[in-house]
Amino acid sequence: MNNSSIKERSVDLAGNQYPHPHYLQTRSRINYLIERYLSLEILQQNLSDLPRQFKNPHQRRWETIDWQAITSNQIIGVAPELFIATVANAVEIETPIRAYAMESWNYLQAAHFPMARFVGGTFAADGTMLEVGIWEKEERQHRPTFSKIYQQLTGDKLQSHPNSVKGYESSGNLREDVYKHAIARIATEWGATSVYLWLMAHSTGALQQAIAQPMQDEINHLAKFWGISRWAFGDSYLTRLQGTTKNLMGLLKHHQGERPKGNDVLQIGYALYAVELVFTFARLMVQLRHWNQMLTPDYLEELFGLPPQQLAAS
Ligand SMILES: [Fe+2]
Ligand SMILES: [Fe+2]
Repeated sequence: MNNSSIKERSVDLAGNQYPHPHYLQTRSRINYLIERYLSLEILQQNLSDLPRQFKNPHQRRWETIDWQAITSNQIIGVAPELFIATVANAVEIETPIRAYAMESWNYLQAAHFPMARFVGGTFAADGTMLEVGIWEKEERQHRPTFSKIYQQLTGDKLQSHPNSVKGYESSGNLREDVYKHAIARIATEWGATSVYLWLMAHSTGALQQAIAQPMQDEINHLAKFWGISRWAFGDSYLTRLQGTTKNLMGLLKHHQGERPKGNDVLQIGYALYAVELVFTFARLMVQLRHWNQMLTPDYLEELFGLPPQQLAAS
């Protein structure tokens, strides 16, 4: 082994690197990433940061990305076309952030103002924006990041088709509305974390390091949304989340639409991709449920005070 390959190995964020990984080796990389980026300690820190955010909003810092060093040689163990299609999909998932933030703000402002502010900022009486929410500030860095990665890998600019946002719809039942919205947000952060984690398992070097930046934001958001929802809604909350596995499968179906046709290598690659992604979703949920046991009512009250009355179980 020469010096440069030692160096290349030492910077891999997903543990051991295999030039042609089989399924179990990719799984071991996914597990490694989960232990590294979603340890109980990290999840706990991300959640306990939330009350501090309410008092003193501050954006999570990113490591510098070495754009010029990103090359398609850093894609490992998967057809580059599939990897690049997943990056393109990330660009779509990440837009339009302003509309997402507004939707959340509308649901949250009556239920928990500090959280509404964290996500969607504050407004003057006439509706002008006074301050952008931290969640929005962090999220709006993601689309340009994936666009740039795409461009660096392909040499082309990506034409993106932003998702459509449903927007705020009140049913007249505040608890139910906020509840549904929280579940949807958690599912989105969970899905994004899983997809970016998968991208990191199949990359190395500057490419992997770039993806690690938005991925850590998603984990941070996931822990915050999860924890505060657990605080507001208590136990009933977890059973409801199980139903959202369906949503995640929907995300996969979305990918299926772009499934490459007429190329056997890609077809096989796609089947494996789906298996690995389902593994990642499930493995992440196991970790979150494990962490969830630490979220006792006493601990949550210490962080956020008494749960808001209007959201308490009816
Ligand atoms: Fe994001
Ligand atoms: Fe997110």
